[in-house]
Order: sequence, then structure tokens, then C-alpha cells
Amino acid sequence: MILLYHFAEICRLSLLPALCPLQSNDLLASPKSGILVMERFYQEELTCLHIIAHRGASAYAPENTFAAFEKAVELGADFIELDVQLTKDGRLAVIHDDKVDRTTNGTGFVREYTMNELEKLDAGSWFSPEFQDEKIPSLEAVLGKYHNKMGLLIEIKSSKTQPGIEKAAGQLISRFGHSMNTIVQSFDAGAMRALHHMYPSIPTAVLIRPRFGMLPRARLRQIAEFARYVSLKATMVSPFLIKSIHSCDLKALAWTVNGKKTGRRLKSWKIDGIITDYPDYF
Ligand code: G3P
Ligand code: CA
Repeated sequence: MILLYHFAEICRLSLLPALCPLQSNDLLASPKSGILVMERFYQEELTCLHIIAHRGASAYAPENTFAAFEKAVELGADFIELDVQLTKDGRLAVIHDDKVDRTTNGTGFVREYTMNELEKLDAGSWFSPEFQDEKIPSLEAVLGKYHNKMGLLIEIKSSKTQPGIEKAAGQLISRFGHSMNTIVQSFDAGAMRALHHMYPSIPTAVLIRPRFGMLPRARLRQIAEFARYVSLKATMVSPFLIKSIHSCDLKALAWTVNGKKTGRRLKSWKIDGIITDYPDYF
């Protein structure tokens, strides 16, 4: 085991650049060589482009379900992006909206359901009848399946209306052990600052909408005190902004990029991650 570790460490230092183009599902497909790559993928921040499946591969399967997450793995995504909401019993459910109406056969607010009650809803038929068995996953179940096998970009929804949600996420992630590739993001920079102070080894990202205004370097420097990434709406990205983000020692992600041409442009500007419903496009 010790020998294996040293061998992996030597390879990590000497082969890193060459290994960079490998995708996370290459490791799952080839467990032998995967040991080395795992070492690289989960101890180091990637220096090449991350392809991040938005709510899973949500163009092909119902968003935020295991069907969409497995499709993301199959299509070669590096990360799965997913959204979490607090349940009535203080657990974290993987669902985008604060109500279950759009994506399940139930009605009402997520916070009025326990996790067990949510798990009984049909979270797939709205997308297509073939997905009628899909359920709302708990974050715990997602971490159990993908932690240390796949990057996870966990978006905390509505921290203002769900006080304590960032603490609940931090506690749960800590139970699985921290990884460079389990990242928490939110539009609420204050929640990410709080999470960083409670759990400094969990990487965080701040989501930015154009209506939040300009992103001057002074603001980026503030963000860099508690976050490693800024996650930008794609329409606000420019080469200048990416350079400015990099100069503050932050990485830049863009959402939601579903056009191949836009993806190529962002890559040429040295974006660090593309969040997309179509992870096979890039
Ligand atoms: O990861 C960025 C993106 O997911 C933010 O918007 O509404 O799809 O959660 P939304
Ligand atoms: Ca999201």
C-alpha cells in the first residue's frame, strides 16, 4: 500500500500534464491505470478545462436524478452540478426548485416534506414515461455514490429562506472526507464565506448574475478570501474578465453553455469550466 502510494506520488509529480486530458470516467472504465489518475484527480485542482454536467446530463434525462448523473458519467463529464434544498427533517434533497410541482407528481414546498416522503415521489415522468422510476435523491445518497469517483459541484439554493443550509451541507460533506473536487457554490456570497469559515477545506464558488453588476478587481479579491471559483452566467464572460479573475488567483466557470460555438469561444479565452446540459458537446 505504501509502495503504491509512493509510486502514485512520483507519477503525480512527473506525469500530471500528460494525464490532464483524461476524463473522470476513464478511471471508472480502467480500474488498473485508474489508481494513478485518481491520485491526480482528487488531490490536485485540475489545470485543464472541467466539463460540468448541469443538473446531470439534463438534456438527456430528468434533471437532478440518478438517471441524469449516470448519463453524465457515461458521456465523460468531469463534474456533476446539482442543486440542494433543506427538507422538513433537516436533510438535503437534490432538487432545483423550492417546490416539487415542476419536476415531480407532487405539490407544495420541499420544506414541507421529509426526505422519506420526497423519495416516494415520481421525479422522472414529467421528462418522459421511461423515467417514471426516478426519485428525488438525497445529497447523502449522491455523495455515497460519487464522492471521490466524480467531481461534484453542489449548489445551495435559497440560503436566505433556509437558514443553516450551508452548515448542513458542510457537516454532511465532512462525513465523507474533503476532496478538491467536491465544491459548494451559491449565489449568496455570505453563505459561502460562512461555509469557508466553518469548513475551510471545502472549496467554494460564488455564482454571479449580470444584474449583480460589474466585477471589479477589488470585489474579486474579496471573493478570493473565501472562494476558489467564480461561476458566471455565460453572457457576461469576456477575455478581460477571465484574465482579471485569474489574476486574483480564482478560477472561472461559465453556465449554462449549450452551444458548441460558445463553448469553443470560452475555451479559447481560457475558461476553467463549462457547465452544460450537453456534456458530450465539448
Ligand atoms: O451552476 C450554475 C447554474 O446551475 C445556476 O443556475 O438556475 O440552473 O441553478 P440554475
Ligand atoms: Ca444549479
